[in-house]
Amino acid sequence: MCGIVGYHGREGARDILIDALRRLEYRGYDSAGIAISQDGSVKIARKQGKVSDLWNAICNENFEGSMGLAHTRWATHGVPSERNAHPHKVGDITVVHNGIIENYLELKESLKQDGRTFVSDTDTEVIPHLIVNYLDKGSDFEEAVRLALKRLKGSYAIGVMRDGSDTMIAAKKESPLLVGVGKDEFMIASDAPAIINRTNSFIFLEDNDIVIITNGEMRITDFDGAAVNREIKTVQWTGAMAEKGGYRHFMLKEIFEQPRALTETLIGRIREEEGDVVFEDLNLPDVSKIRKIWMVACGTSYHACLIGKNMFEANLRIPVETDIASEFRYRDPILDKDDLVILVSQSGETADTIAAMKEVKKKGLYTLAICNVLGSTLSRDSHGVIYTHAGPEIGVASTKAFTTQISVFFMLMLYLGKLRGVLDGDDVRRHLTELKKLPHHITAILKSSAAIEEIAQANMHYGHFLYLGRGINFPTVLEGALKLKEISYIHAEAYAAGEMKHGPIALIDENMPIVVVSPKDQTYKKTCSNIEEVITRRGKVFLFTDSFDHDMAPKVNAVFVIPETIYELQPILSIVPLQLMAYYMANHLGTDVDQPRNLAKSVTVE
Ligand code: F6R
Repeated sequence: MCGIVGYHGREGARDILIDALRRLEYRGYDSAGIAISQDGSVKIARKQGKVSDLWNAICNENFEGSMGLAHTRWATHGVPSERNAHPHKVGDITVVHNGIIENYLELKESLKQDGRTFVSDTDTEVIPHLIVNYLDKGSDFEEAVRLALKRLKGSYAIGVMRDGSDTMIAAKKESPLLVGVGKDEFMIASDAPAIINRTNSFIFLEDNDIVIITNGEMRITDFDGAAVNREIKTVQWTGAMAEKGGYRHFMLKEIFEQPRALTETLIGRIREEEGDVVFEDLNLPDVSKIRKIWMVACGTSYHACLIGKNMFEANLRIPVETDIASEFRYRDPILDKDDLVILVSQSGETADTIAAMKEVKKKGLYTLAICNVLGSTLSRDSHGVIYTHAGPEIGVASTKAFTTQISVFFMLMLYLGKLRGVLDGDDVRRHLTELKKLPHHITAILKSSAAIEEIAQANMHYGHFLYLGRGINFPTVLEGALKLKEISYIHAEAYAAGEMKHGPIALIDENMPIVVVSPKDQTYKKTCSNIEEVITRRGKVFLFTDSFDHDMAPKVNAVFVIPETIYELQPILSIVPLQLMAYYMANHLGTDVDQPRNLAKSVTVE
């Protein structure tokens, strides 16, 4: 996730900003840059790689000024490179940006028609161009920024400086930004850890706030220039707490980030009114010829594929084969030249998934990657790529990558359905309306995390758990069980509920708690019969469903109600309490949640 810092004060900005960038490193990034206002102009340095590479490049250079901006970039538009790194300077305007400008292609086109040339592949570059445009038309600096911001759709936190000016302007909409208020200095930052060593007094900006820092003073306005009052708050975080945004572990932070990760994955891709989904640069071959789709991945990403299969087959009526990448690569699958092969990976560096992609390419087929890391091997070497914009996932156990992968499958299903003529604009619009509600629904689930923690704490002494689900929620429980075993080291198995009587029922007694995910769909009653069978054998049951069941509630040990949504999207909601349950059990058991034993975040070996 990109990180922004800015300094406006009396001391040398360079060292303060580099130190702040180092404190933002935990967010994950691929390049870094700095801009210092010096002798009437803004001087810039950018580097692909680490903050230390940037520091090595500038430590012996003359960068002396007491106002500056700096940035760590997590690529979303344009591969990681010096050219795409921030700050971006156009004319006398310098900008750093975090977020995604949804309408940047439109803006870029119209700016190009005005004769403007672009030197990066980023969405960000439209911002300084727009500001310069308004300056050329006679606006002053502040007004030019305001007018430019009004043209942007999407999410952003920005910092802006102008050659020859002592003023720094910052603004935010849907991306985090705060102002640190120090002695004779102001700082801006994406989050508190970047600057907590200099101040613990913060103004947490709200959407549509514009901050103007000039002449040692700071004021806040709205997008029309009207003054806004914001309270200065004092925080008492330790450095480590602040780094995780106040969460105890990255995994918990990432679970709670899911509403935002989903929103960012949807931004710019869904056109609800038109009933359309848009993907850039897919270059798909003729989709009317596809007879079979393959979905290939490992671990959590493989579970997302199982969900993709369910929704694709139900809506597109195309056969889908799912494969674990390490199996696929060696079993010489029977591929037809018109098959579509989708490879899914959070990191884009998983050796087995990359090897599977190479096998497919060798046979001359088109490959499509669903990936979270821009510029990763899988994303570079596949013919097409759709990014999940989940932001960096630092906790080893995958959480927000999973839910965003499912959302991409959902959008891709609608996209292909429309292209193949099996879904019309009304169908797509109806589905998109439900998709858009998900961030709100997840927020509601997260508000009930205390109830999940209670269940987790009361039951973490069990040595085994059985998870049951059906249909599209069978992969959900596979994923729930994987989360539990990998971070708490409690043994967990997941079964399709209908399979219970074919074997696992033998395991059930008072020492085998059962986690059941069963929204009230066509198989709910059948799953209730499975629950009855468990209860008769003295098993404990925790039921996750989408409306309170007065008949079942007295019989089971706990019922957790998940908001209602359409069948295809249920896993995005029902996995969240299971992620939380695994997290809280592991946390109370005292395991190393973010780096569980024997596991690596990116499995780059076979
Ligand atoms: C589980 C987990 C792993 C990964 C798997 C694939 O929490 O993180 O199972 O899902 O190693 O990784 P990616 O998606 O990076 O290919």
